Amino acid sequence: MLPVAVLVSGSGSNLQALLDASRTDPDFGARIVVVISDRPGVGALARAANAGVPTEVVPWSDFEDRQEFSIALCDIARKYGAEVLLLAGFMRILSPAAVDRYPNRIINIHPALLPAFPGPHAVPAALAHGVKVSGVTVHFVDDEVDHGPIIAQRAVAVEAGDTEEILHARIQDEEHRLFPLVVKAFAAGRLRVEGRRVIWEES
Ligand code: GRF
Repeated sequence: MLPVAVLVSGSGSNLQALLDASRTDPDFGARIVVVISDRPGVGALARAANAGVPTEVVPWSDFEDRQEFSIALCDIARKYGAEVLLLAGFMRILSPAAVDRYPNRIINIHPALLPAFPGPHAVPAALAHGVKVSGVTVHFVDDEVDHGPIIAQRAVAVEAGDTEEILHARIQDEEHRLFPLVVKAFAAGRLRVEGRRVIWEES
């Protein structure tokens, strides 16, 4: 079982999808050893506690800078034996120090088809741009924001009359299917990185 840490900042619906997969799929291959939040009191922490998973809060304001924050976070993940960091709605940017410690072992989910609409406001930005298709990207984290090698993407149609909330909900339905699928493939050793390309090997 691959030990993973899940990093969160909010409601934790993606965390829930991962918790559900680890509970219901005997071949999931990953075990969530800790859930780490940069904010106290968020829904994701309650979801983790309900599932009996240890939680930690690492408040951003406790640290001098991004580097110190990132190192503290990695140290906590390591303390629990985590070999991978899954960013599931984690709204902080990790410093290169974290990427050095977990090279191609930090995976992020982003609510748009990268490289379109990086950053924290991807869904409203896609709507404002008038795209007809947006979607979900799961990628390895590198030193640039929302930039590392793309593991998987799913397209989601933008419908007439979509609001940010409606489109985000449709994107999240896809996220909840895709993230567990990627984690399972990673845990099975099926994802090989060649430069910017991620090769899915046969299972
Ligand atoms: C997701 O849409 C994810 O793509 C983005 O933040 C949102 C987190 O939602 N990075 P949740 O906390 O998993 O419900």
